[in-house]
Amino acid sequence: MEKVKLLIIGAGPGGYVAAIRAAQLGLEPVIVEKENVGGTCLNWGCIPTKALISSAETYNLAKHSEYLNITAGSVNWPDVVENAKRSVVKNRTGVEYLFKKNKIRHVFGTASFTGEKTVKVGEEEFEAENIIVATGSKVRDISAFPVDGKDIISSDHALFQEKLPESLAIIGGGVIGVEIAYIYHSFGVEVTIIEAMNSIVPFEDKDVARELSKEFKKKKIKIHTGTSVQKVEKTEHGMLITLENGKTVEAEQVLSSVGRAPNVDGLNIEKSGVKLDERGFIATDKLFKTNVDGVYAIGDVIATPMLAHTAEHEGIIAVEQISGKVVHEIDYLLNPGCIYCQPSIASMGYREQELIEKEIPYKVGKFPFSANGKAIASGHTAGFVKVLLDDKTHKIIGAHIIGFGATDLISEFIAAMNIGATAEQLINSIHPHPTLCEATLEALLNALGRTIHM
Ligand code: NAI
Repeated sequence: MEKVKLLIIGAGPGGYVAAIRAAQLGLEPVIVEKENVGGTCLNWGCIPTKALISSAETYNLAKHSEYLNITAGSVNWPDVVENAKRSVVKNRTGVEYLFKKNKIRHVFGTASFTGEKTVKVGEEEFEAENIIVATGSKVRDISAFPVDGKDIISSDHALFQEKLPESLAIIGGGVIGVEIAYIYHSFGVEVTIIEAMNSIVPFEDKDVARELSKEFKKKKIKIHTGTSVQKVEKTEHGMLITLENGKTVEAEQVLSSVGRAPNVDGLNIEKSGVKLDERGFIATDKLFKTNVDGVYAIGDVIATPMLAHTAEHEGIIAVEQISGKVVHEIDYLLNPGCIYCQPSIASMGYREQELIEKEIPYKVGKFPFSANGKAIASGHTAGFVKVLLDDKTHKIIGAHIIGFGATDLISEFIAAMNIGATAEQLINSIHPHPTLCEATLEALLNALGRTIHM
């Protein structure tokens, strides 16, 4: 049995970032991964999706650039997929290089606990002073419509399939549902979204969810909300989906995107004595310690937002704690969320409906991109910036952006909320012209009744 200071299980963004930080801190980490490094994010999630979305955006721009007096545009789906695969390999090579540079030992295989802090990988067995479990999440399968990879697919299949269907019914209008709806619709697929809650992206601020719905309907993406799926059958013509409200939807293929579940498959977690919560996530305290001393868990396998940047941050906190550094607890209210369809969405802090429910006094400011110079010039006029301020202090307590560039524009609010900045402090910072970030400035001005360009 080999003794090690730190064993990390899972080389997704949580695990591999933790390994790099651990190497910097002299913890000589060993990381176990059974697949390619990079996890869901790099191999089947964020990275290939963003490559497909880039192709979709570029194709859409080319197709609808009459306002710039440009006409162009033809596309070949297999080439688009090829580009997504290339970007995965490039990113993966980058992580492998970082492992070499930081002298991180990568053990290939499935890690399974043999005791509290002992782990087997094939023939090798390790006894670790500390263990970080970063095994991520897996597709949540529903028995009424089990994923078969052909007629009913998951996002893993949707990103790389060789041929596009003529029509796709998407069950679940959350993050994955709307991103794939945007990609497939952009390449000519007839898309229908079925969402059990009362709107698509139901976890977003209500105005943002309404705006996305409006923009998707303009594109002729069909949306059924407030009804879940009763059954899915294969017929001579394709797939027939019966909804609980009695309506039916027909499509060539079905995408199941109803959420993801924590992944502890093959871990033999019971041998370690580490406890799971009632939903199957590994239970930890606010600094990612499990009930077993020296065993930590981070990322999608614990019940915090399933986001790559969240997992990375959690991994760094776990490692710094192991090395004896003073660490901070994460305030998840300050954890930004991004959705990369078009119009894209970025948000952080409270949503307006939460402030109303919690009876927190607030001011709200909004500014549409249709009144922003750069947005008009470039044709990206959909959406708005919405900001929520504490009624008395004018500190920013929520920011919600929908529109082109939203996922970059949110950074100003991320910094502001983390340092407790007020609207006045941001307003007193000169925003460059002409830029989309002037819409941020105008939303802040609007909250204080001082809008200039509207
Ligand atoms: P999700 O939780 O975002 O959305 C699932 C949706 O399915 C919910 O709106 C839910 O109400 C609906 N639903 C559940 N059962 C249903 C049924 N039987 N019929 C109709 N609707 C039903 O989960 P999603 O989109 O699968 O994503 C999984 C995880 O991956 C999320 O936590 C997400 O944050 C993360 N992710 C993040 C991305 C990003 O940051 N851009 C991209 C992709 C995924």
